Amino acid sequence: MESKKKAPIGVFDSGVGGLTVVREMARQLPEENIVYFGDTARVPYGSKSQHTIIRFSEQIIRFLKTKQVKAIVIACNTASALALETVRDEFGIPILGVVIPGARAAVEATQNLKVGVVGTDATVQSGVYTKIIKGMNPDIEVIEKACPLFVPLVEEGFKEHNVTQEIIDYYLESMKNSEIDAMILGCTHYPLLRSKIRAYMGERIQIVNPAYETAMDLKKLLASHNMENDGGTYPFSHYEFYVSDAAEKFRRFANTVMPFDISQTNVVNIEEY
Ligand code: DGL
Repeated sequence: MESKKKAPIGVFDSGVGGLTVVREMARQLPEENIVYFGDTARVPYGSKSQHTIIRFSEQIIRFLKTKQVKAIVIACNTASALALETVRDEFGIPILGVVIPGARAAVEATQNLKVGVVGTDATVQSGVYTKIIKGMNPDIEVIEKACPLFVPLVEEGFKEHNVTQEIIDYYLESMKNSEIDAMILGCTHYPLLRSKIRAYMGERIQIVNPAYETAMDLKKLLASHNMENDGGTYPFSHYEFYVSDAAEKFRRFANTVMPFDISQTNVVNIEEY
């Protein structure tokens, strides 16, 4: 059991988006070690079929298991929405997604029972957020909107570019004019545009980032399995970063998101897993 406590948490996403979840995990579970995988060769997931997203997720989980992870966080809404149910019981370790924690946070946040969800095409088409939110409270009305161009804008570091403002306007105008009072950032890339989205949507609408709830769910899950790392390594917890392509570009980007410097990112041939 002792070795399990010190084992890292595996975290993955299609690219840099999952770093928004790692950043929150670093705040809420600073003593935990993390192995991150960003599938930079195959991003975006949001335009792919469920079959492909399940295959990619299985390969990544097999890779993370070679790192002896004690639990896995799917820090990607698309993979959580389309693959979690399939992979959850396949690998003999606890696997957690971001959709249920995000849905719960929105159910708690809304006062007028009208919730917006923005995400990738695949996430929105799956209807998973609506299903889970309505399962928690059938009286809540859910409006979902796919914003596929947000992911490449984030991956390219275009946050401050004029075109980003125009695309926010294009995608979110109908949300802004609806009666929602809470909106889930249902893609882990979107919190990296949060200040722009917040400024556009105004103060009336609460912006929900599922990362905090996910970190808290992970905390509970580790406690229930008696797997928390109580080794006291903070602030020197060990983080490793792997990608399927363009390691140096990822590393530079990650350094703008994470509260500490990442000195190394390694490339993995993920198709081998
Ligand atoms: N960041 C991911 C998500 O949360 C996927 C974005 C993409 O690859 O399309 O959905």
